[in-house]
Amino acid sequence: MRLAEVDLWNPDVFVQGVPHEAFRALRLEDPVHRHKENPGGPGFWAVTRYADVVTVSKDPGLFSSYRGGTNIPDYPPDDMAMIRMMMVNMDPPQHGKFRKLARTGFTPRIVAQMEPKVRAAAAAIVDQVAGLGRCDFVTKIAAELPLQVIADLLGIPQEDRHKVFNWSNRLIGFDDPEFQTSIEDAKIAAAEVWMYANQLATMRKGTPGEDMVSVLMNAVVDGERLTEMEFDGFFLLLAVAGNETTRNLISGGMLALIEHPEQRARLIADPGLIPSAVEEMLRWVSPVMHFRRTATRDTELGGKKIAEGDKVVMYYPSANRDEQVFPDGDRFDVGRTPNEHLAFGAGEHFCLGASLARLEIRIIFEEIIRRLPDLELAGNVRRLRSNFINGFKEIPVQFTPEKRP
Ligand code: HEM
Repeated sequence: MRLAEVDLWNPDVFVQGVPHEAFRALRLEDPVHRHKENPGGPGFWAVTRYADVVTVSKDPGLFSSYRGGTNIPDYPPDDMAMIRMMMVNMDPPQHGKFRKLARTGFTPRIVAQMEPKVRAAAAAIVDQVAGLGRCDFVTKIAAELPLQVIADLLGIPQEDRHKVFNWSNRLIGFDDPEFQTSIEDAKIAAAEVWMYANQLATMRKGTPGEDMVSVLMNAVVDGERLTEMEFDGFFLLLAVAGNETTRNLISGGMLALIEHPEQRARLIADPGLIPSAVEEMLRWVSPVMHFRRTATRDTELGGKKIAEGDKVVMYYPSANRDEQVFPDGDRFDVGRTPNEHLAFGAGEHFCLGASLARLEIRIIFEEIIRRLPDLELAGNVRRLRSNFINGFKEIPVQFTPEKRP
C-alpha cells in the first residue's frame, strides 16, 4: 500500500476491518506519520511502532492526557472541563490521586472475589441461548457479561443495565449513523448518565453499600469530598470504559476462533490454553484502536520534530503487530508466548480494569468452548463505523442446540 492512500481518519475505512495493511506500511516507511484531520482539524502524528507507543505512554510530562484530552478532535472549553473530570484525561500528580481512589474497587483481591459471580453470570448467559441453536453473538452473549459486571460493580440495579448499553452505544458510536445522528446526541447521552448517577448517589446516601458508587461518595481527595462533576465523571468513565471494550474483545475474539478453526480445536483439546488465548485475542483484536496525547514542549519522536501543542496519536492495533516485537504477528496463535501486547496501554494510565476484563473474557470463553464448541457464522458480520473502537454490531451465529434435562 502507498503512504498517500493511508487514511486512519475516515470511519468508513474501518467498517471493512482494521486497516492492517496501512499500519504495516506506516511502521515500515513512516512510523511517526503526519496525518490530516477532517474537517478542518490541525492534523496529528500517527505513532504506529511498539517502542514509540511505549515511549509516549510512559512520559506524561511530555505527552499530556490533560491538555487536549485523549480523543483526536479538540472540543470547546465547556466540554473540555467535563472531559477533564475523567482520570483518563488527567496528568500527574492529579491523576495519581484519582487513580488511587478508584484502585480500591479493582484490587486483585476484589477482582478474585468476583470470580464466582462472573462464572454464574456467564453460565446464565449461555443458558439463555444454548437451547436455541442460533442467536446474535454480540447482543446476546458478548455485550451481556460486561454489562452485568459493570452494573454489579457500580451498584446499578440489573433491570437498568440496558440503559447503560444504550448510553455507551451513543457515546462511543458517535460516528455510526445507527447509534447517533449528531454529536449533540452524545452530549444528551452523557447528561442522562449524570442524572442517573446522581439519582443512584441520592439513593445510596441513606444506605451505603460496598459498590463503587458508595466508595466514590465517601471518597476524600486532598481532604475534600468529590464534587458532583468529579463523581459524575468517574461514573461515566467506569460505565463506558469497561463495557464497549470488553464486549468487542469477546466478539472479535470469537470471530478469530471461527476464522482459525485449528486454533479453536487446540483450545477444545486443552482448555488450559484459554489464559494465553485471552492475551492473543487482546493483541489480535485491540478493541481500543487509539488514544491521543498532546506534546507539552517541542521534542523529537522517531526522527520527526514534534512541536508543542501537536497531537500525538498512539495506534494499539499497529503496535500489537510490530514485526520488531511479535514474530509472525499476522498469525493468530492461542499459545503465543511471550505476548507483551499493548491492548491495555502502558504507563500511568494502564487500564484500571485489565484484571477484571481478563477474568470476564477467560470465563465466558471457558463456557463457550465447553458448551458451544461448534458455534459458527450464520450470516453477515456488521462492524461498527468508528476509527476509535474496533467494534461489532452483529455477528449472527448457529450451533448444535444444547440438550438439557
Ligand atoms: C478488553 C477490555 C479493555 C480494553 C482493551 C481496555 C483498554 C484500555 C486502554 C488502552 C487504556 C489506556 C488509556 C490511556 O493510556 O490513555 C484504558 C484505561 C482505562 N480503562 Fe480500560 N480497557 C478494557 C476494559 C476495562 C474495564 C473492564 C474497565 C473497568 C471496569 C476499564 C476501565 C478503564 C479506566 C478507568 C481507564 C483509565 C485509567 C487511567 O486513566 O488511569 N477498562 N483501558
